[in-house]
Amino acid sequence: MINDDFRSTETFKLGIIASNCSGGMTSSYLEDQWSGSWEKNLKLAQMADKAGIDFILPAARFIGLEGKKDFQGTVLETITWASALLSKTENIKVFATMHTSMNHPIIAAKQIVSMAQIGKNRIGLNIVSEWDQAEYDALGIHLPEDHKTRYDYAQEWFDLVKKIWKSTEAFNWEGQFFQTKGIYGKPNLKILPPIFNAAGSKEGKEFAVRNSDFLFTPIFSKIEDCEIEIQNLKKQAAEIGKNIQVLTCTHIICRRTEDEAKAEWDRQLKNVDQKTVQHIMDTLFAFSKNVPPETLVNLQERVAIAFGGYPLVGTPEQIADGLSLLHKTGFAGSTLYFFDYTKEFPYFRDYVMPILREKQLLSSSQLKSYHFSEFL
Ligand SMILES: Cc1cc2nc3c(=O)[nH]c(=O)nc-3n(C[C@H](O)[C@H](O)[C@H](O)COP(=O)(O)O)c2cc1C
Repeated sequence: MINDDFRSTETFKLGIIASNCSGGMTSSYLEDQWSGSWEKNLKLAQMADKAGIDFILPAARFIGLEGKKDFQGTVLETITWASALLSKTENIKVFATMHTSMNHPIIAAKQIVSMAQIGKNRIGLNIVSEWDQAEYDALGIHLPEDHKTRYDYAQEWFDLVKKIWKSTEAFNWEGQFFQTKGIYGKPNLKILPPIFNAAGSKEGKEFAVRNSDFLFTPIFSKIEDCEIEIQNLKKQAAEIGKNIQVLTCTHIICRRTEDEAKAEWDRQLKNVDQKTVQHIMDTLFAFSKNVPPETLVNLQERVAIAFGGYPLVGTPEQIADGLSLLHKTGFAGSTLYFFDYTKEFPYFRDYVMPILREKQLLSSSQLKSYHFSEFL
C-alpha cells in the first residue's frame, strides 16, 4: 500500500504543491498563469492520484504576495480543500497546511481527526510558523519579533494538538500561550499523520527535527553541497532518537527537446513580476543579504520563477536524471510545481514517471498502465 508506509519507505516521494493558489509558485504577468480554481485542483489531484503521486500539499495564505496579479492572492483555504480532495481521491496523501498562530489548536486537532476519518488516514499535516508580517497585519494578530518565541509558541501549539488527539478524559492545559479547561479529543486519532515542516531558521530547523517526520531543505547552492546538510539533520534527529527524512522543492519545465524547455524557461523569466520577487527577497529570503552571493546559485532567478525552488528544465530524460540525482544526494523526495499544472502534469506522468519507475525510484513502481498524453 502506497499510503500505509508513507514514513518508512525508501522510495523517492513525489508531491504536488501550491496548486490551491493563483499563480502556483510563479509570479507572472502571463495571461495563461495558473488560476488555482477548485475545478482545476480536483482534476489535478485525481490525475495525480491515479498516476501514483505520493502526496499533494497546499500553501496556506490569507492575502497575496503583491504584484500586478496579486500573486497567490486567490487561494482555496487548505482545510476545506484537503477535506474535499480526501473524499474525491483514493490513495494519495492529502496534506493540510496550518499556520500555528492562525488556527486554534483545539479546532486544528478536531479538523485533522475529522479529515483522517474522511480520507481513511490519508491526511498529513504541514506545520507553518509564519514569516510574513503583512499576513499577520491582515488578520490583526501579532507576529513575534524573534524566532525563539515563534517556535516556542509552535511547540506548545503542537504539544496541545497531540494531547487532544490522544485524550479521551477531559483535561486542563496551563501553558505559556494556551490555558484551556475540560477539553478532550473524541474521536481519537488512530494513526498519527505524517508531519511536514519547512522552517528555514536555526530555531525552526530544531523545531522540525523534534516534531516532524519530513522537513524541507531548499537547494540554494550546488546539489552536491546538500548531502552534508541532509546528513547533519539526520544525525541531529538520531541524537534525540528520531528518524527524519529530508525533502526539497523543484520547478519542472519538461518538453520534447531541451531547446523547447529552455524557451519556456525564458518566456517565464521574461514575464516575472519583479515587485513580488522583491517582496519575497525582502521577507522570506532576507537572510540571503548576509550570505556571499557566489554560494547562492542564481537565487534571484529561482525566486522569480520558482519561489526559490530548484529548477529542472529539459527533456524527460534530463528531468528524470535530475530527480535521480536528488535521490542519490539523500533527499527522500520532492514537491513538484508546473507553470500550468493540469496542462503539464500529464506529460510528466507519461514520459518522466516511467523512467523513474524503471529505476525503481517510485513507490508506484508497480503501476504500469498509462495513457500516453499528447505532446505539449
Ligand atoms: C515546501 C514549503 C511549504 C511551505 N508552505 C508554506 C505555507 O503554506 N504558508 C506559509 O506562510 N509559509 C510556508 N512555507 C514557509 C515555511 O513554513 C517557513 O515559515 C519559512 O521557511 C520561514 O522559516 P523560519 O520561520 O524558520 O525562518 C513553506 C516553505 C516550504 C519550503
